[in-house]
Amino acid sequence: MHEVLSKKQLSPNVTRLDVMARRIAEIRQPGQFVIVRRGEGAERIPLTIADADPAAGSIALVIQAVGKTTRELVALNPGDAIQDISGPLGRPTDLITSGRALCVGGGVGTAVIHPIAQGLHRQGVAVVSIIGGRSKEWVIFEEELRKLGEVIVCTDDGSYGRKGFVTDAAKDVLAAGGVDCVYAVGPVPMMRAVVAVTKPLGVHTIVSLNPVMVDGTGMCGGCRVSVSNETKFACVDGPEFDGHLVDFDLLWDRLGTYRAQEQESMARHEESCRIGLEKPKAD
Ligand SMILES: Cc1cc2nc3c(=O)[nH]c(=O)nc-3n(C[C@H](O)[C@H](O)[C@H](O)COP(=O)(O)OP(=O)(O)OC[C@H]3O[C@@H](n4cnc5c(N)ncnc54)[C@H](O)[C@@H]3O)c2cc1C
Ligand code: FES
Repeated sequence: MHEVLSKKQLSPNVTRLDVMARRIAEIRQPGQFVIVRRGEGAERIPLTIADADPAAGSIALVIQAVGKTTRELVALNPGDAIQDISGPLGRPTDLITSGRALCVGGGVGTAVIHPIAQGLHRQGVAVVSIIGGRSKEWVIFEEELRKLGEVIVCTDDGSYGRKGFVTDAAKDVLAAGGVDCVYAVGPVPMMRAVVAVTKPLGVHTIVSLNPVMVDGTGMCGGCRVSVSNETKFACVDGPEFDGHLVDFDLLWDRLGTYRAQEQESMARHEESCRIGLEKPKAD
């Protein structure tokens, strides 16, 4: 069992849980993730290791509540426990070792960018981060990223930082030159838009793909993606790939495969909470 040590609401639907996972905290590397199962019979879902404290033996999970399982996880409180946390899984990020990197994070993707920016900073790479949200209260991990380099904040409504999308700011930084590699993590349309900017400029771009994963060990085939017209399993070959070679259309189609079942599961969960069979979201 993995005890929840602390809980913090980062934005209206994003929560940070610091949980005990001593061995994972000691050996995790940027870009790696865990597969989490809250309890007996619960769904297994992948979550990035957003941070770790090897001395305390804890890892940080930053969870966007989008469906039944993520809602159940963010309802946990300090003192509660998660039954299984497997990992670290996936290939570590291919970090450049010198020069200047641009890290672009959208929504909960900003939490995934954080360990990548940490890794780059440790190598001595100059890091510029562009992070965004629809308005001020949706911006996360700004303080943590400011410790690692320059941060440009964008909000869709202009309530904080620069008005507009992260891709607009990325265009300006790239136009000024001097960027050796771009790391982009966020919703598929955002990563696709970043790649559309960097491809004509020939700037190497790494994206983190988020297909549905089940076992996380390359056995079920659920996380198939197409990269350079070759089938790859995101859990073992990724989750990060050269964005210029990714088939984003296929990824987008496959992400919608279980939409009807996900909606049904969410509706059943809400009904169970309503009639008191399950614990509702705590916040
Ligand atoms: C490598 C990787 C790292 C991730 N890291 C994070 C993270 O740090 N924080 C975070 O909030 N989210 C992360 N995700 C996404 C997260 O796993 C899904 O949001 C979660 O599984 C949704 O489950 P649900 O039951 O709450 O929602 P559902 O209603 O079941 O699904 C909502 C949407 O989530 C996606 N999804 C559903 N089941 C899975 C699954 N088993 N595997 C992957 N995606 C799924 C689908 O796009 C689906 O349409 C990551 C995904 C991957 C592949
Ligand atoms: S999650 Fe099963 S093969 Fe990748």
